[in-house]
Amino acid sequence: MAASGSSNGALWIFGYGSLVWRPDFPHRESRPAWIRGFARRFWQGSTDHRGVPGAPGRVVTLVREPARACWGRAYRVESDAAGAVLAGLDQREKGGYERLEVELNLAVSATPSMSPTRTARGSERAAGLVYVATERNPNYLGAAPLEQVAAQVRASRGPSGDNPEYVFRLADALREMGAEDEHVFALEALLERRVGA
Ligand code: SIN
Repeated sequence: MAASGSSNGALWIFGYGSLVWRPDFPHRESRPAWIRGFARRFWQGSTDHRGVPGAPGRVVTLVREPARACWGRAYRVESDAAGAVLAGLDQREKGGYERLEVELNLAVSATPSMSPTRTARGSERAAGLVYVATERNPNYLGAAPLEQVAAQVRASRGPSGDNPEYVFRLADALREMGAEDEHVFALEALLERRVGA
């Protein structure tokens, strides 16, 4: 587990799940960003945020897919705040995630044109940290047919709220950014969104 993720004194943190829409830590700036070689999947079980022990919800993790790129949001944290921010994130992501150092591609525009396989023109590179839940963690659920994922999400609730809300907020944030993610949007479509949700 790497803990660096810093470029020119600043720490960059890449969020691709709840960290896209609820960072809840101090940061200097945030930018749409992508990382190469990963796909976002609802394959991680959540027993502390969107489910409970014995009835886990499903949240996202990253899986290695060399031909793909995953879009999210990168946050620049001042070096004097980095220790406290990482301690807070380690606590928040303690349900199976570990830190990984990755190369970030930071969009220069707030609404770049993007897709899961295409990369945006005009990006800057920086080292960053991402929280990833691998199949080694005890809450890992892995792949399942999307209808089964949707049924589990629909039925789950945890201390952070309803599991469908997690999907809707993520889908909204990606859409707002102009990012495509067929896995997230297909799951959202299966969840029969209610008006105002
Ligand atoms: C992330 O958002 O980057 C990690 C997964 C999550 O907390 O939903």
